[in-house]
Order: sequence, then C-alpha cells, then structure tokens
Amino acid sequence: MRQFVLYARKAVTSPDFSLDDLPGSGGRMDLVARCVCSALWISHGLRRDACIHIAAYGRPNPPVVISFYGDKLRNVSPDERNIASWIKIALASKRKNPGIAVRRGLSFQKLIEELASSGNFFYILHEDGVPVDDVDLKADAVFVLGDHLGIPRKEEKFVERFPHEKISLGNISYLASQCITIIHYELDRRSQNSIQMSADSSL
Ligand SMILES: C[S@@+](CC[C@H](N)C(=O)[O-])C[C@H]1O[C@@H](n2cnc3c(N)ncnc32)[C@H](O)[C@@H]1O
Repeated sequence: MRQFVLYARKAVTSPDFSLDDLPGSGGRMDLVARCVCSALWISHGLRRDACIHIAAYGRPNPPVVISFYGDKLRNVSPDERNIASWIKIALASKRKNPGIAVRRGLSFQKLIEELASSGNFFYILHEDGVPVDDVDLKADAVFVLGDHLGIPRKEEKFVERFPHEKISLGNISYLASQCITIIHYELDRRSQNSIQMSADSSL
C-alpha cells in the first residue's frame, strides 16, 4: 500500500471549525483536504491501494492522527469542503465512516514507530534530498511530508532513525498536495513500465 504522512502543524484537533473558513478557523484544513484528495482520488474513483495519515498539531488538543483509507472509504467526494466536513464529523465522533480513523493522543513519532514496526520504508520529501529520478522507488512505502511550514527538524530526525531515504522533486518548492500527485505519477509510470517490460520479456 502507498502511504502518506502529512505533518500538519496548525490543523485543528476539534470539530469547531467553519467549513466557510478552512484556512483560518481550520488551521489550514484546506491544505489537509487537498492532500487527502491527491492521495486517494483519481478521475473516476478512489485509489484502493493508498492511505494518508494526518498528524494534526493545531489547537486545542494535539496531537491527533486522522487516517483516510482508500479501500474502505464510503460516501466522501473529492472536493475540499466535503473532505473537511468528514474530518469535522470524525473529530466529533458523530458518525462512523469505515475509511476514516481518528486517534487522539497519538503523536507523529508514535505513528512513525508504528509504521516502522510493520516493516515500512520511509521516503522523506525534502528539496535537498536525492533527485527522485535517481531513486528506485519502492512500491509500498511511506512518504513523509510537511505542510506549508515544512516538517520540524526534530520530527525529520526521528524518521531518520528508521530505514529511509530523503528524496527531492527538484528545487521548486511545491505545495504538499502537488508533491503527493507527483509521487503517485512517478509510481504509476514506473509500475506501468515494469508491467510493459515483463510483458516484452515474455515475447
Ligand atoms: C510547501 S512545502 C513547505 C515549504 C516550507 N517552507 C519548508 O521549508 O519546508 C510542503 C512540503 O512539501 C514537500 N516538498 C515541497 N517541495 C518539494 C520538493 N521540491 N522536493 C521534495 N519535497 C518537496 C516537503 O515535504 C515540504 O515540507
């Protein structure tokens, strides 16, 4: 499964934010919702092999990890407002969606430990990393990225304790949601190439 971890420094951890003001009252919940959309949606459906974990560190009760799973998600549409409304519902523990999990008190570091203990490899997205073209990307890995403020150095160093590689998409600083789209594109393209190659080699 392709997994993404977004460190969201300002994303609020209570449902009392306004859907009419996702950037302000939601602590950049617009950015979070765009990342969820990029991680899980393609044109005519959901990526069943992908999930995204949001490590929310905004007011009033951080940390909270909100996870969206493409294989179990129901009744969510890809627009920012709808995704944010489901985050609101999940934070209020009002209605269950089988594809959304909220874990209160789970820190970014605990989440990373949990993912590492399942044998996952980490790619830290950073402009100063190894160019993505030079990396033989593993298909099932965890991609860690920051929000508009980036990943705090302390948290990045924590991920570096586990098997990892720091990768760069070039020297342009992209939006976090754009980075997710680029990673999917790279993995899709490379897996299609390898399907093509194995088909060719069987001729
Ligand atoms: C808008 S950027 C954050 C910019 C922030 N000023 C910083 O210094 O990290 C959001 C996140 O996207 C990822 N990112 C953006 N551009 C990237 C690039 N060219 N290569 C790799 N990752 C990138 C990084 O994980 C970054 O934390």
